[in-house]
Amino acid sequence: MSIFVDEDDASTDTKKFMNYVKQSSVEYFNKGVYGIGYRVKIDNPIESKYNVLSLNNTEDSIKCSQLFVKLVPILEENDNEYTHNFVSSILEMEATPSNDFSNEIRIQTDVYKKTNKNLEAVCPPIVYSNILNNTQQRSRAVKLLSTMVNQMPNDENKIFLARMRNMYEGDRSIKLGVIAMSFAENYDTLRNVLGRTKSKAQKQFYQYLAIYEMLRLYDIGYLHGDYHTDNILINTKYKYNYLTGNYLGRSLIIDYGMAFKNKHVDNSLSSSQKMHIVTQEKQPQTGMNAYTWSNYNWLLKFLQEEGPNLNTNLDYLQKNIGGFQEKMIQKINVKYPGLMERIRIINDSTYRGSVLKGGRMLLDKGMITQMEEIEKPSKLMNVTENQMTKQVMKSSDQENDTLALALNESVTEYEITDEEFEQIFNPSGMNMENVVNEYENTIQEGIMILNGEDMNGGKKKGYKKSSRKVQSKKRGKKNKKKTRNHAKVRVKCGGQKKTKKRVVFAECMSDSDCTLDKPECDEKNNICVQKMRFYGGKTKKRALKKKH
Ligand SMILES: Nc1ncnc2c1ncn2[C@@H]1O[C@H](COP(=O)(O)OP(=O)(O)OP(=O)(O)O)[C@@H](O)[C@H]1O
Ligand SMILES: [Mg+2]
Repeated sequence: MSIFVDEDDASTDTKKFMNYVKQSSVEYFNKGVYGIGYRVKIDNPIESKYNVLSLNNTEDSIKCSQLFVKLVPILEENDNEYTHNFVSSILEMEATPSNDFSNEIRIQTDVYKKTNKNLEAVCPPIVYSNILNNTQQRSRAVKLLSTMVNQMPNDENKIFLARMRNMYEGDRSIKLGVIAMSFAENYDTLRNVLGRTKSKAQKQFYQYLAIYEMLRLYDIGYLHGDYHTDNILINTKYKYNYLTGNYLGRSLIIDYGMAFKNKHVDNSLSSSQKMHIVTQEKQPQTGMNAYTWSNYNWLLKFLQEEGPNLNTNLDYLQKNIGGFQEKMIQKINVKYPGLMERIRIINDSTYRGSVLKGGRMLLDKGMITQMEEIEKPSKLMNVTENQMTKQVMKSSDQENDTLALALNESVTEYEITDEEFEQIFNPSGMNMENVVNEYENTIQEGIMILNGEDMNGGKKKGYKKSSRKVQSKKRGKKNKKKTRNHAKVRVKCGGQKKTKKRVVFAECMSDSDCTLDKPECDEKNNICVQKMRFYGGKTKKRALKKKH
């Protein structure tokens, strides 16, 4: 597939994004194997042309006063090996093929729109994405990088980005992938949130929030494929359901670089059956699942611990979230008639109307028809308030407390007052008509410009096996199946004597991730996993075959 690379000077979406960056401070956020993330905060939110809506808004979140911007070096697999090595030696990052880059964007946008029926999508919306050209005369890649460098404080991160800019000046064949999404304000990773929460019940609740969103993803036809606790965000203050007190909170799922199609969409399955599939299903390129990759183990452990409570608790949570959303939507319909209809039209739109290009296709049509199973919130919506019961969280400040979501006293009917509604939905009294106009533009522009020709007649998008050998994490994890190592080593399982067991050697995602120096064993599935060694950004050798 060829990708449209933005060569067009008049491209308003790129201009709009550049203007935003020029008026912002840029702060380094994180660096992965394939991309580097920045927080871009506009000095004066009024100047922001991006508007994003949800059911809980603040003026800053509506005006999208901060963006999370991911920069991704783009090279095709068959591009010069020398250039690939050039990128990894300078940035200690691997380049991504444009096809894989566009898949991440396509899936995230699809997920956003398909789960946004009640203004509560599973992921943040992409407000701008593109592959920027790097031509001699007028390189948009260099221009963006220079602008970002200018807006950064003088520290080592600025030096790094300047080095990246110099690399683009030095080799014109490297392109720059950009994904900008609304910054998830007041969210932190599930890993951090669990790390600082003492109460066991509260920890359980946050994991339920994550699973709730994973199930929504499941229902619209996707499996995330990389559900470690840094790819799940939690806002512990978000008003998302009827429950009060300790039951505030909301989760978002990010990073769709390894997401894949769910072939098991079936409404008759229970939540625990669906989650069983989530943990079982192997990510197509890596061949890994929760049983073989310790980063996903939190989920397995949680599901095992919750056992029979899982379905009842999730059902209860779904009812309380659904009931609350229904109430909020009713209020919106009274206060802002026509607004929800407009938003649902945006959610359903497939094409991007661009005056400049005569209409660009928003999403891969083939993909959409494959993903026909659209989220059906009706199950949630049919819940009446008197079915709601009041929550009980037993002594949540004790460490050994337990969550008892569903075992509850019965109902106090909860009416959202007009005042409370305004506080949650439109606390700064903004003109919602204007906000929705801008929101519409924002969502339409979020999509990378894909070549219409390929969309209509070209190859089906998908996870083509890559021929390139230097591939690892995520987009490039494709060859892992081949490189994964199996061996029998002596390990101690469940207090027994050390016995010889099969160990899968898994690759590490980063230096910090590569901490497993002994095999981790899952006796039920008779499998042990040990990480490979990680040197300077790459998995190089088989890990320590320690004698136990
Ligand atoms: N929209 C967002 N708002 C706030 N923080 C975000 C957002 N997206 C990502 N983050 C933060 O940045 C971290 C890394 O983002 P992400 O998972 O998308 O990239 P990555 O895994 O480092 O990169 P890649 O997989 O492309 O190599 C997340 O763990 C999260 O803390
Ligand atoms: Mg990630």
